[in-house]
Amino acid sequence: MALHNINPKKTKAWKKLEDSKNLLIKKTLKDLFNQEDNRLDYLSVELENIYVDFSKNIIDENTFNLLLDLASECKVEDSIKKLFDGELINETEKRAVLHTSLRNFKSAPDSISKDRKKIEKFSSDIINGKIKSSTGKRFTDVVNIGIGGSDLGPKMTVEALKFYKNNLNIHFISNVDGDHANDILKNLNPETTFFIIVSKTFTTQETLSNAVLAKNWIENTLKTKKVDNHFCAISTNIDAIEKFGINKDYVFNMYDFVGGRFSMWGSVGLSIAISLGYKNFEKFLIGAEIMDTHFKEMPLNKNIPICLALISIWNSNFLGAQNQAIIPYSEYLNFLPSYLQQSVMESNGKSVDRSGKKVDYSTENIIWGGTGTNVQHAFFQLIHQGTKLIPCDFIGFKKPLYGNQDSHNKLMSNYIGQMEALMHGKDSGEVISEMKSKGISEEEIKKISRYKVFEGNKPSNSILINRLTPETFGMLIAMYEHIIFTKGVIWNIFSFDQWGVELGKVLASKLLTEIESGKIKNHDDSTKSLLKKLKN
Ligand code: F6P
Repeated sequence: MALHNINPKKTKAWKKLEDSKNLLIKKTLKDLFNQEDNRLDYLSVELENIYVDFSKNIIDENTFNLLLDLASECKVEDSIKKLFDGELINETEKRAVLHTSLRNFKSAPDSISKDRKKIEKFSSDIINGKIKSSTGKRFTDVVNIGIGGSDLGPKMTVEALKFYKNNLNIHFISNVDGDHANDILKNLNPETTFFIIVSKTFTTQETLSNAVLAKNWIENTLKTKKVDNHFCAISTNIDAIEKFGINKDYVFNMYDFVGGRFSMWGSVGLSIAISLGYKNFEKFLIGAEIMDTHFKEMPLNKNIPICLALISIWNSNFLGAQNQAIIPYSEYLNFLPSYLQQSVMESNGKSVDRSGKKVDYSTENIIWGGTGTNVQHAFFQLIHQGTKLIPCDFIGFKKPLYGNQDSHNKLMSNYIGQMEALMHGKDSGEVISEMKSKGISEEEIKKISRYKVFEGNKPSNSILINRLTPETFGMLIAMYEHIIFTKGVIWNIFSFDQWGVELGKVLASKLLTEIESGKIKNHDDSTKSLLKKLKN
């Protein structure tokens, strides 16, 4: 067995953490800050341009130390070694998990260095117009066709780093929704549009269907069958790529040892390299490598991904949180929550442990979120005054990109203000005296004041980054990847397979035959009736 098989509930630390919880739930964050003047010493870590403050969690020094013991008892450090050493830790698929090798510059395997060279040459040839369309024109638009890990990472990163982009326009088609595909294509010129088909398996229905749609569009609009210089493909399935008719020089590798949701650091990131230029793409990888080295080398208590994973486990397994909100204070990071929904939930949304038994503890949270300040005017009401415990990650930047300090000061005052409000709340005494000072009547105060009370005591992490650059963004995403890994190790689950998405795919393909042929087979009444309604 590559990874250890340790039931976290059977560790000594887990039992002590349960006792600790019974003491801590009687305390508030305000009490904890009053009692401990060293909170920031042990509950914050700085790495180059990233400062992570997790002191606004309902935790004290003893509990934090117990969480570190939990990580030790679950052999997190040895598991990190196994990850980087390429042991077959994705046991159910018999694969190593080596997405970190895609951003390893110190000792990258030859094949990966060659891939990088190819990405560099290809992206600059597209940017500089050396690679031309079938009518001899320079490409102006690039469309990435892929879904899940073959879409979300590149889409998020192209958007996050668009301050650094060149004049090429990058588009993404993922869903098998012809309306969306047509909506994108209708604004593009086929003579100057290039397509990147990304699919690890090259069997994914959505991607293959959209690839055919794109090929037909180019062939029909340019009135030629010679369209291979409008397409490149990235996959492990070389036979299928050839059958599709992709030019051999335009084929890029993917590897079995890199899961789709962790793949944008390699050829899957081609759209990122085309959008930003290879040098910026490389800086993005270098940022991730800095986080990898930190994760490998720092002791547990000063290791950012490990500390944040432990805090998350504390909040969910001991304090009962079922979800976690990701709130970046930057519109550029708009797609971060949906990217993390796949990488976190597809990895750790599991309920069978590494010995094959159903777990009797909670595993991954529901991940959701959106950009501040927008979400303050949307769902923050529920976070402040609802009935659910929602730990939040607040991600902010010290410096704006365009230098608009006035807006940035306002943005960051909200960033800090929301965390402060979540922690301190506002008690009835404060509410009443504020209402009195405004001359509001006793009767009105009695009626309304209770609705204005904020209980506070809501946990949050602050991730404060100097500036949004390719490098810091790479660090941030690698940080989340390693949090996923650490939590999976402690929960004793397999984080790198995704069997849970298979059943729906199989049923959809069976139903497609029934929808196309009109011959409805035996199903439950609800399914049958839906199929019939589609025909009418
Ligand atoms: O949704 C399941 C999944 O297998 C993801 O893990 C993957 O990122 C996505 O489908 C796309 O798969 P492929 O790259 O093989 O088309």
